[in-house]
Amino acid sequence: MNLQFNRHRRLRSSETMRSMVRENFIRKEDLIYPLFIVEGENIKKEISSMPGQYQFSLDQLEIEMKVIAQLNIPAVILFGIPDHKDDLGTEAYNDNGILQKAIRQIKASHPDILVIADTCLCEYTDHGHCGMIEHDCVINDESLELLVKTAVSQAKAGADIIAPSNMMDGFVAAIRAGLDEKDFENIPIMSYAVKYASAFYGPFRDAADSAPRTGPFDRKTYQMDPANRLEALREMQSDIDEGADFLIVKPALSYLDITRDVRNNCNLPLVTYNVSGEYAMVKAAAQNGWIDEKRIVIEQLTSMKRAGADMIITYFAKDVAKWLSED
Ligand code: PBG
Repeated sequence: MNLQFNRHRRLRSSETMRSMVRENFIRKEDLIYPLFIVEGENIKKEISSMPGQYQFSLDQLEIEMKVIAQLNIPAVILFGIPDHKDDLGTEAYNDNGILQKAIRQIKASHPDILVIADTCLCEYTDHGHCGMIEHDCVINDESLELLVKTAVSQAKAGADIIAPSNMMDGFVAAIRAGLDEKDFENIPIMSYAVKYASAFYGPFRDAADSAPRTGPFDRKTYQMDPANRLEALREMQSDIDEGADFLIVKPALSYLDITRDVRNNCNLPLVTYNVSGEYAMVKAAAQNGWIDEKRIVIEQLTSMKRAGADMIITYFAKDVAKWLSED
């Protein structure tokens, strides 16, 4: 026989050979771990739809941060859940609010860990929307003022990076100008530039108590339609033009094509958010013994890197950091 074909299997013959030709990796440096902070004392409450993830009061957060530091996780992203919510989300920009306290506490005990502040109003408003409501509409420009106040307050508390997730138009321009005006021109903006109106955020809304409680009962007038691809490039371009330093694509797994599109069309550091529903599905299957959790998680995160993400926000960060140091 004199067949002509390529022997691809030559490069798969052993683990040593495979690791030599491997193209994508997860590193600890790629990981960002989300944390939910509540008021009160001695609270470490597991989120029922996110096994292994908790709401922490400040004292418990201190203990958790030691674990995160030991695992060499470089960055955390913080979500605050205040006791008091109102229509303007005033606790979001209270210099003594729960998130501001958490930022100050982490920077005091772990100055080397990057603290990313999620800048949004939905955890702070009684209606659960990411902006101000008027006549059942989420109004854009008035909301920007509150978001700027929130970002400035977070920067004052010591946040290293501001991560606006609210999807109001012009939020990067407004926050950049607001930060610069208060001499925070060196604080980068990690923009949730491409954020879809996704059912995969369900468990997060339990964790952050942030589901819309008055009409409109979804976020479809400000977050993107999952059916759209070109729109992602428009959202990306606006945030680049407005001065974003990092871009986020969210969610991760059903949107790997979008991550690739954004990677091919911009040169900013790119982040993908492996969201709560993606975490919950893997956990549920793993708890039933239906899948090999470690292999599934590594495969999923590697696919995000392969799609073009540089960093990954993931509830699996602690597990992955442990696995990486074991291997
Ligand atoms: C706040 C925000 C949300 C998430 C991150 N920031 C929820 C939402 O937009 O409803 C979701 C994260 C996750 O599901 O893990 N706007």
